[in-house]
Amino acid sequence: MKKNPIVSLDHVSFQYEGHEQYALNNVTFDIYEGEWLAIVGHNGSGKSTMAKLLNGLQFPQQGEITVCGIPLNETSIWDIRRRIGMVFQNPDNQFVGTTVEDDVAFGLENYGVPREEMVQRVQDSLHKVKMDQLLHQEPHHLSGGQKQRVAIAGVMALRPSIIILDEATSMLDPRGRAEVLDSIRTLKSEKSLTVISITHDLEEAAKADRIIVMNKGKVFQEGTPDVIFAMDEQLIQLGLDIPFSVKMAKALGKQGIKLSKYYLSEEELVTELWTYRSHM
Ligand SMILES: Nc1ncnc2c1ncn2[C@@H]1O[C@H](COP(=O)(O)OP(=O)(O)O)[C@@H](O)[C@H]1O
Ligand SMILES: [Mg+2]
Repeated sequence: MKKNPIVSLDHVSFQYEGHEQYALNNVTFDIYEGEWLAIVGHNGSGKSTMAKLLNGLQFPQQGEITVCGIPLNETSIWDIRRRIGMVFQNPDNQFVGTTVEDDVAFGLENYGVPREEMVQRVQDSLHKVKMDQLLHQEPHHLSGGQKQRVAIAGVMALRPSIIILDEATSMLDPRGRAEVLDSIRTLKSEKSLTVISITHDLEEAAKADRIIVMNKGKVFQEGTPDVIFAMDEQLIQLGLDIPFSVKMAKALGKQGIKLSKYYLSEEELVTELWTYRSHM
């Protein structure tokens, strides 16, 4: 399969005004159409800065960013913002409507989408995140996970090619997190959406097609979850916490129990151990 870059960062550097340190330092990589890319890294490694640059909230001092073949600059930014949807960390700061339905309609109103089409798009996108039963619900009746799913629906209603989730699950409880990840998986499977999920949760990153590890404003490593989890101790040194199943697999390895892959989800690990046992 030929991979088409949908986003390219070419030697991008960025410094906040009055700061000596580069928040991003000579960053180069491509993001491919239709992939689910996770960007991980310690606090302050530059992940949110990258999200801000991709959305044109800041502009790099050096280097170039291209989105959907368009060089990102002050003139192209409005066009590019239609193609990139962003979901942020705090579910409460993102809810602008008085009901679920209004909240999703808000962005569409801003883009002047005709009423009939608007109703349809609101319905469709809320259906995809399993919130269509709660159209008239007010935000204070919703859980954090439900609010984030409404935020995702609001973004999806605008039909972007790319969605960026910046720590979108980090304030949620395990159930809310699972609901949101499930919604993203559904969206991914239905269309050629490109997902960029920024997270410090490696368990979440493990679900992605590919992971980029950031360290101090630079790309430290890039690869499939299996390749990244093989880095093992190095990840801990970078301030990241390895998923439980990976720690478990490693401990089992020390006991001579070799598993098929480096990264297994907890379910896969259990299945593999059952099979392992029945062979003994
Ligand atoms: N608005 C800002 N003004 C000045 N420095 C900032 C600002 N936002 C972030 N930084 C600095 O830029 C670096 C990268 O931060 P950030 O992109 O937020 O990292 P991450 O999202 O990975 O935690 C950090 O050193 C941080 O302190
Ligand atoms: Mg951040």
